[in-house]
Amino acid sequence: MTDPLHQELLELAQEAARRAGDLLRDGRPADLAVAATKSSPIDVVTEMDIAAEKLITDLISTHRPHDGFLGEEGADTEGTSGIRWVIDPLDGTVNYLYGLPTWAVSIAAEQDGETVVGVVAAPMRGETYHAVRGGGAWQGERELTCRPAPPLEQALVSTGFNYVTEVRAHQAEVAHRLIPLLRDIRRGGSAAVDLCDVAAGRLDGYYERGLNAWDYGAGDLIAREAGALTGGRPGERPSRDLTVAATPGVFEPLQRLLEDFGAWHD
Ligand code: IPD
Ligand code: CA
Ligand code: CA
Repeated sequence: MTDPLHQELLELAQEAARRAGDLLRDGRPADLAVAATKSSPIDVVTEMDIAAEKLITDLISTHRPHDGFLGEEGADTEGTSGIRWVIDPLDGTVNYLYGLPTWAVSIAAEQDGETVVGVVAAPMRGETYHAVRGGGAWQGERELTCRPAPPLEQALVSTGFNYVTEVRAHQAEVAHRLIPLLRDIRRGGSAAVDLCDVAAGRLDGYYERGLNAWDYGAGDLIAREAGALTGGRPGERPSRDLTVAATPGVFEPLQRLLEDFGAWHD
C-alpha cells in the first residue's frame, strides 16, 4: 500500500506537471521556430520556463506551504516539512524552441534527501510517467519494465551534450570511442525523457555528464522503479559528474567503459 503522504505528493506532482505541460504546449508561439532565426527567441523560451516553474511552485505551495523547492529557474527554499520539490519546468529547451516533440516537465519530491516521487510529463508524446519509491514505474495505467539486456554491441544508448563548447568537445570524444562498441547512439534532447525511455524499454541505456538534480531527479526514480540500474561513477550515485541508467547487464559494462573513457571529467 502506498504511503498516504507519498500518494498526496504524487497527485500534486501529476496535477502540477499536467498544468505546466498544457501551459507550455498551448502557450508556445506558432512562429517560435521562425523567430529562432531572428531576434532573441531564447527570451521567449525563458519566459515560458519561468512561467511554468511559477505555476508549479504556486500550485504546490498553496497545498503544502512548508515544503522546500529547488527549480532550474531559481526556486531555492529550504522548507520545514522535510519535503523538497526538485523541478525542471521545461527539459528539452532546444527541442521546444525548434518545435521538436521531445521535451518534458520534470517534478520530483524528496523526503529527507531521498527521492520518493517522480513525475515526467511529455505533452507532445501524450505521455506522463510516474513512480513512487517502492511502487514500480508507470505510464498511466501501464507498468513499465526496462528491456532485457542485449549484448553490449547490440545496445541502443542515448546521451546528451553540454551547452559549453569545451565540455561538448570532450563528450564527443567519449561518444566517438563508444559508438563502435554499441548498436548505436541517440541524442534525444531531454534527459528526463531519456531516463523514462530506459524505463519504458525504448532504450537499453543512457548516460550524460553535467546534469543537474532537476534534470535527473524524477527520471532516475522512474528508471530504477522499472528495474533499471542507475548511478554515477562506479559505486556512486548519479551526480553532475556522471549520470548512467541502463538495463541490468548493460549498466555494468557501460559504466566501466565510461569510467575508462573519462566520461566523468571535462
Ligand atoms: C538539457 C536537456 C538535454 C541535456 C542537457 C540539459 P534543458 O536541459 O536535458 O537533453 O543534454 O544537458 O541541460 O536545458 O533543456 O532544461
Ligand atoms: Ca534540463
Ligand atoms: Ca530546463
